[in-house]
Amino acid sequence: MPNSLTIVGIQWGDEGKGKVTDLLARDASLVVRYQGGANAGHTVVVEGRKVVLHQVPSGILNPSAFCVIGPAVVVDPETLLAEMDELGHAGVAVNPDHLAISRQATVVLPYHKRLDTLREAARGAGRIGTTGRGIGPAYEDLFGRTGVRLAELCDEDRLAARIDAQLPERNAVLKFLGGEALDRDSLIQPALLLGERLRPFLCDTGNVVAKHLSAGHNVLFESAQGTLLDVLHGTWPFVTSSLTVAPAAFALSGVGIPLRGGVLGVTKAYTTRVGSGPFPTEDTGEYGEWLRQKGGEFGSTTGRPRRCGHLDLPALRYAHRVNGTSALALMKMDVLSGLSSVKVCTAWRVGGRTIDVATPDMFADPTLVPVIEEWPGWAAPLDGATSMESLPREAQEYVQRIESTLGIPIELVSTGSGRESTILRRNPWA
Ligand code: IMP
Repeated sequence: MPNSLTIVGIQWGDEGKGKVTDLLARDASLVVRYQGGANAGHTVVVEGRKVVLHQVPSGILNPSAFCVIGPAVVVDPETLLAEMDELGHAGVAVNPDHLAISRQATVVLPYHKRLDTLREAARGAGRIGTTGRGIGPAYEDLFGRTGVRLAELCDEDRLAARIDAQLPERNAVLKFLGGEALDRDSLIQPALLLGERLRPFLCDTGNVVAKHLSAGHNVLFESAQGTLLDVLHGTWPFVTSSLTVAPAAFALSGVGIPLRGGVLGVTKAYTTRVGSGPFPTEDTGEYGEWLRQKGGEFGSTTGRPRRCGHLDLPALRYAHRVNGTSALALMKMDVLSGLSSVKVCTAWRVGGRTIDVATPDMFADPTLVPVIEEWPGWAAPLDGATSMESLPREAQEYVQRIESTLGIPIELVSTGSGRESTILRRNPWA
């Protein structure tokens, strides 16, 4: 029986991790968000009410689970507090009895967001398509050893020293890129007020995680974005700026590798991507447009239309390798209802060779041609199905065929946006 479960996206994000985390948090005593920032948008539907979470872990909707925002998350204090207020108004308790935030987390400051937007504009046709939330520049400051940590928002002298050390250089770059310089006092005073509000939540969260693990309680590690957006293992440079992969969860949260751990890889029944970069199975024709409309494939953080395409088995095998997935969750199966046949990429032809497992450099290979098979589709809607037996035979076969081709058990199949529209074939905690 695992007592740690890591939920990781195994495509380019937006796989439906929020729903899975919300569901599995029912049996968790702790939910830890381990990377990313306000670039993420986890949509959860509870009793018909849609909640989009950006920085607060999706486990917050479960009153019995404690939540942690770990030290490798880049925290935008202003939008985090707005999100916490919004949750409060929706009747979800967000207080220090339910949420702890790492004192070590790097702060996203106004100049990070400006730099993000200006740099994207400067990249022109080569732009990454970032969310504009300042994520890249904030992580640069972490690894460049120049960032501001959350604890420093509660200490005027330390904050002022940091800002004074950084601002001249940041302002020079902002001006170089055609932007406006920022004034030190306009940064420091508002940041201190935000720090004051966050102070009760701040602690050494690694200690909290370690205590839950050593007590044998169930700890759920929640990733944001997806494997193919990982800064090292993804389709670099068209990636986000953090390590998203499951094995990073422990190092980034400040604990050792738990002895009993599972990794649940979350994938849609097809593929989507937002932003630029290679996408071998993208369908820019009618089929892709059909998926976008039927699946409501528009970004929950930016509203941008998502690029849509076919399930990519070589890419999933690669994601399995880097994450060590022990099981899969197959999301948005209901979207495929109504197709006479479902297109699936079973292999890649690269440089005249047939490839079963992708490697990161192959995604942009100009000779790459996906091998597409057409599997039988089904007409009946799946909305709300809670058992495999109630699915049309072709839908059952679709699940079984992916499972046997990849050799990884599919433990959860999602048949609609609500919590209840789920087939739990096996409880990943069991
Ligand atoms: P950034 O993380 O805002 O720097 O954006 C870098 C790339 O990651 C862009 O292609 C974004 O569209 C993508 N990205 C960032 N966060 C998410 C997410 O939560 N879901 C899907 N794509 C994301």
